[in-house]
Amino acid sequence: RQNARESLYIILNFAKNFYLQQLHNTDEGQSIGLSYFRERGFTNDIQKKFELGYSPDTWDAFTKEALNKGYTADILEKAGLLIHKEGSQTAGYDRFRGRVIFPIHNVAGKVIAFGARILKTDKSGKGASQPKYLNSPETEVYHKSDILYGIFQAKNAIRQQEACYLVEGYTDVVSLHQAGIENVVASSGTSLTIEQIRLIGRFTPNITILYDGDVAGIKAALRGLDLVLEEGLNVSIVLFPDGEDPDSYVRRVGAEAFKEYLKKASKDFITFKTETLLQDAGNDPFRLAALIGEVVNSIIKIPDAIKRQVFFHRTSEMMKVDEQMLISEGNKLLRKLH
Ligand code: GTP
Ligand code: MN
Ligand code: MN
Ligand code: MN
Ligand code: MN
Repeated sequence: RQNARESLYIILNFAKNFYLQQLHNTDEGQSIGLSYFRERGFTNDIQKKFELGYSPDTWDAFTKEALNKGYTADILEKAGLLIHKEGSQTAGYDRFRGRVIFPIHNVAGKVIAFGARILKTDKSGKGASQPKYLNSPETEVYHKSDILYGIFQAKNAIRQQEACYLVEGYTDVVSLHQAGIENVVASSGTSLTIEQIRLIGRFTPNITILYDGDVAGIKAALRGLDLVLEEGLNVSIVLFPDGEDPDSYVRRVGAEAFKEYLKKASKDFITFKTETLLQDAGNDPFRLAALIGEVVNSIIKIPDAIKRQVFFHRTSEMMKVDEQMLISEGNKLLRKLH
């Protein structure tokens, strides 16, 4: 088992080097991949730090090269790099073709998977017929729900600053590093899992969620919240203007203004949740009542009794309801849970 994992790390590292060399040392890589990264404003240094690469637009350039070097089709398939159709006579074809490549590293810095972005997207952000991002499938070394993109590059900064920013996308992580914000990791579009939260918790109890300023982003942020609370971590939220994400925003306003915005727009979770729900509820008393239940339900997830008390107090002021009533609602909900 240990050997099987070790051989996956080796082929994944080989693939990473292949994509790097394709990006830098081929005409196609330079004219398509490098110019794509340049257009996005990624410097050479930052490309190197994240080991960004390019997969050529052919069916099997990578597979051929790997087979030539003595790797077996079986191990390529187990690494998620080769797609082999049942009953096909050929070895199969490359999973990643004609895309820019974001290697995904584990905490120790080993490559365990890849995210691969299509070059052209239409206005909706989707490719003409293909998904914008392709990711490695689950493998022996890659469990999507256990890892966060950028954790290897971020972990020291997270420890030093005693805080972690959580973003949605690969490019948000890369862009923020370039802006000098290095304590940042991405959930890569999936909703946050308990394993991912514990991973952050190994380095800091303080998480700030920076999600895209669209409805999906807000919903995702709210979903992630209760999980984070249950782990006893402190969570704040920053939302970006509609249609922006951390990458587009930092490029538009620059690093200094971005950092100012983080300070100004950061809200603790309960304020964020209450405000968001209050907007939804308007003056409808039934919806307001439901909202109180929602917020109380989040507060009781906090393991620390003193923090819970602070939030009950603050929420009662925000919602203009009696604090004792909130607390007894919380106790009722707790009794239901146990
Ligand atoms: P850019 O358009 O390159 O700036 O990407 P983005 O990171 O801003 O993309 P978006 O906000 O649409 O999505 C956030 C993250 O969700 C991405 O970084 C991916 O990890 C993931 N994601 C987005 N689209 C897809 C998709 O089509 N397939 C898969 N598997 N993941 C996706
Ligand atoms: Mn989005
Ligand atoms: Mn983006
Ligand atoms: Mn985005
Ligand atoms: Mn009080």
